[in-house]
Amino acid sequence: MYEFIVNMPKAELHLHLEGSINSTTLIKLAKRNNSEFPYQTTEEIENALANRPPGLQGFLDHHYERVLVLQKQLDFFETTYELVKTCKVNNIKYLELFFDPQFHTARGISFDDIIMGIDEGRKKGFLDFGVEVNLIMCINRERTISSGFEMLEQAKPHKDKIIGLGLDSYEENNPPHKYTDVYAQAKKEGYRLTAHCDVDMKNSTRNIWECLEILDVERIDHGINSIEDPKLVQELVRRKICLTTCPIKRPCDPQPQDIDRIREMVNLGLCVTLNTDDPPEFETGYLSNLLYLVQQASHYSKNDMVQFMRNAFDGSWLQMDAKNKYIEALLEYAESHGVN
Ligand code: ADE
Ligand code: ZN
Repeated sequence: MYEFIVNMPKAELHLHLEGSINSTTLIKLAKRNNSEFPYQTTEEIENALANRPPGLQGFLDHHYERVLVLQKQLDFFETTYELVKTCKVNNIKYLELFFDPQFHTARGISFDDIIMGIDEGRKKGFLDFGVEVNLIMCINRERTISSGFEMLEQAKPHKDKIIGLGLDSYEENNPPHKYTDVYAQAKKEGYRLTAHCDVDMKNSTRNIWECLEILDVERIDHGINSIEDPKLVQELVRRKICLTTCPIKRPCDPQPQDIDRIREMVNLGLCVTLNTDDPPEFETGYLSNLLYLVQQASHYSKNDMVQFMRNAFDGSWLQMDAKNKYIEALLEYAESHGVN
């Protein structure tokens, strides 16, 4: 099973560039940039990771400390290239990659430096490793609406490099409807739309409804609490909305989180994908490992694992011909391993 999963052609739709930097690279960048990064050694980083408080707030507070090491265009280039290389190792053929421009521009880094570094990294990554990457810029939802509009303005000269708009960061007290006008403008400009509805937030199901009815998103990131509302499930199925779940695991978790609720989502007919979110920040790590842990814990068949991956290609924002090409390769792989 492990080999079957490792060698299966894959797509991932929920991975943050800023959450993809391993501790060795963090130390290297911190030294190079003389940054205000608070850790001196990889051990100190791993220690902080293991001891962060649980929940989204605890995760994000530590996450943003790490991200401080990204300062120059070269840093964005190198980290993107490194991530694409790791995708190759995991046999990921296609990645939709989130990045958080506002966190960087608020520290004085220009939008141009950020996007040029990331774009060069993914282009070189494609040439060297054959992994295709599309970019999704996220609004940090705790920031002001005008800062969201400013990001859209800064992105205008780079529209050809960015496929979509997302919404991430501190969800509590920052409901999706706060960004109604920014999403409407982004849609007008031709961006594809998605938004995080993280697990077990105060108003999780209401937030998912708002994403559908007000923001008009095509995907929901996480969205696990949808199973609490049968009408919502019905609507998500009707609209063929893809939910990018992230069954991550902390050292104290015996199994990846939420695997029972993910099984229920599948049983309810929702289009579910499995993703790593911020790989080195969780014990689950990169996609092959996460898929194997989920498969072992939930006893999914090879057929089920192929279906998860088919959902990822289906739910992606690839052009139809590219989508079909990848799905064909996936089904050929499945068939050659006796899975129909
Ligand atoms: N930024 C990085 N990962 C995130 C997540 N899972 N939720 C919100 N913001 C994030
Ligand atoms: Zn995320």
